[in-house]
Amino acid sequence: MLNIVLFGPPGSGKGTQSEKMIDKYGLIHLSTGDILREAISERTPLGIKAKEYMEKGELVPDEDVINMVVKRLDREKNPNGFIFDGFPRTCGQARFLRTLLTERDTRISVMIALQVNRDELIRRLLKRGQQTGRSDDELSVIMNRIEVYERDTAPVIDFYRNMRKYRPVDGLGSIEEIFDRIVGVIGELK
Ligand code: AP5
Repeated sequence: MLNIVLFGPPGSGKGTQSEKMIDKYGLIHLSTGDILREAISERTPLGIKAKEYMEKGELVPDEDVINMVVKRLDREKNPNGFIFDGFPRTCGQARFLRTLLTERDTRISVMIALQVNRDELIRRLLKRGQQTGRSDDELSVIMNRIEVYERDTAPVIDFYRNMRKYRPVDGLGSIEEIFDRIVGVIGELK
């Protein structure tokens, strides 16, 4: 199984590149942000709770996210593998994912970490906010999302670096150029 953690700060292109990777590798896309937004639109108890955190750019508590991921993984009977997009986002989530995959006789193959500078992240997210009205793409929330990323999420890099699974990828350039870099990294996996 090919299990990829697609990692990076808000606006680094995780969702955009996931779509291309699904097509090429036949993987299942597990985006915790997408699942949470779906829960919000369906007004489920999880959605109602998550909305309060997401509107401020804060992380939804680990236990809620973890329960949601377990349900999503268990829906798939014979997957080729997963793209984990936006998960894990804390070291606790990373440890949990390792246990969960070990129980299923599999593991993370690689963490692909998109590298994009702060000015470009803000530019992309403000533009999307104007185009789509996504409620957390507003300047003060964007700034908090980036701060939360640097404080709580970036340390997850060391978790995968210690397992020699961390691969940084330049996330600047055209969508195709970045995708080619990702394909190059996946091609080198043993
Ligand atoms: P989530 O939905 O995961 O949002 P995010 O990580 O902030 O990431 P984005 O979706 O904004 O960006 P992306 O990296 O996917 O980039 P994209 O391809 O969209 O999470 C939202 C919230 O949910 C969190 O803040 C948190 O509250 C909660 N949450 C989610 N997961 C959680 C977890 N595990 N634990 C706790 N809480 C969790 O691209 C962005 C824009 O840039 C797009 O408009 C795109 O068209 C454009 N773009 C993409 N590539 C390029 C390029 N190469 N050049 C120019 N523009 C580009």
